[in-house]
Amino acid sequence: MFPKNTWYVACTPDEIDGKPLGRTICGERIAFFRASEGKVAAVEDFCPHRGAALSLGRVYDGNLMCGYHGLVMGPDGKTVSMPMQRVGGFPQIKAYPVAERYGYIWVWPGDATKADASLIPHLEWAVSPEWAFGGGLYHINSGYRLMIDNLMDLTHEAYVHVGSIGQNEIDNSPVITKVDGDHVYTSRVMQDIIAPPFWAAALRANGMDDKARVDRWQISRFSPPSHVLIDVGVAYAGKGGFDAPKEDKVSAVVVDFITPETENSHWYFWGMARHFKPEDKELTKSIREGQGGIFGQDLAVLEAQQRNVQDYPGRSLLMLNIDAGGVQSRRVIDRMIKAEQTPAAEPA
Ligand code: FES
Ligand SMILES: [Fe+2]
Repeated sequence: MFPKNTWYVACTPDEIDGKPLGRTICGERIAFFRASEGKVAAVEDFCPHRGAALSLGRVYDGNLMCGYHGLVMGPDGKTVSMPMQRVGGFPQIKAYPVAERYGYIWVWPGDATKADASLIPHLEWAVSPEWAFGGGLYHINSGYRLMIDNLMDLTHEAYVHVGSIGQNEIDNSPVITKVDGDHVYTSRVMQDIIAPPFWAAALRANGMDDKARVDRWQISRFSPPSHVLIDVGVAYAGKGGFDAPKEDKVSAVVVDFITPETENSHWYFWGMARHFKPEDKELTKSIREGQGGIFGQDLAVLEAQQRNVQDYPGRSLLMLNIDAGGVQSRRVIDRMIKAEQTPAAEPA
């Protein structure tokens, strides 16, 4: 089950460029397309005529034309026309609230009357020229909660990401988990260390000494329904770490929008927003490629883990202190699901 009265990242604008996109989100099959005046629209991916997938059709004059027998569906879920038919009595299909913001298309899969675009989180790195962003999308055959666990506990870096962001000091630095309402924070600071290969390269790219001793931080921030933004970086040792002056550090935000597809699969919108050398397009490209490889390592771990937990549902798993971030985040999700299922109290 998923919280549905909330915004999820559905796709990126290039995915609906000149053609519709069919994508299952929270178990709902949805057809996304660009309607008139460039507005994004989303309707059930189900033609009211014979149930064909509307996303296999094409966009025609701001509407979606079914590729089977030519029914034309409007962005509001009402049939506009169909060759040789009167469509006035055709049943309306569900239309989903959508918004385009920060380089993503967002969808509200639940009760449309509750949708409020002001609830989309503000992403400063997406609007400020001081930041550069590069990212991508993976489809992963694992429940989305496993990805949240993965990102809320970066202990795995020392094992899964050896040679890029992994380093032994990760294992020796305690992790601190904090909960603030629906937000969960897991942080780890490694002091006076040598930067691992990824961060050494970042220091070099920023014209800094890649051999200097540094303080490194990782602060995973979970926010509902399933976004994990991670403050990461290194600063010259003793300069204040995360709070060090700009000239003494390289810092970035690891961007993870985790959108459930089904109970056992999800869409993983990953990326990195960096706060140094924003004008360097080659750097954006090389970081993106490196990061794509790193997250491919997580993908392999998660898909195999999913197969295990799915095939052996009776096995109980350990819950260690390093797992607290994931556990607390799952609690927030469970609370949201429960609240959606509990009907609001009737006024007396
Ligand atoms: S199924 Fe869509 S027009 Fe027939
Ligand atoms: Fe990872």
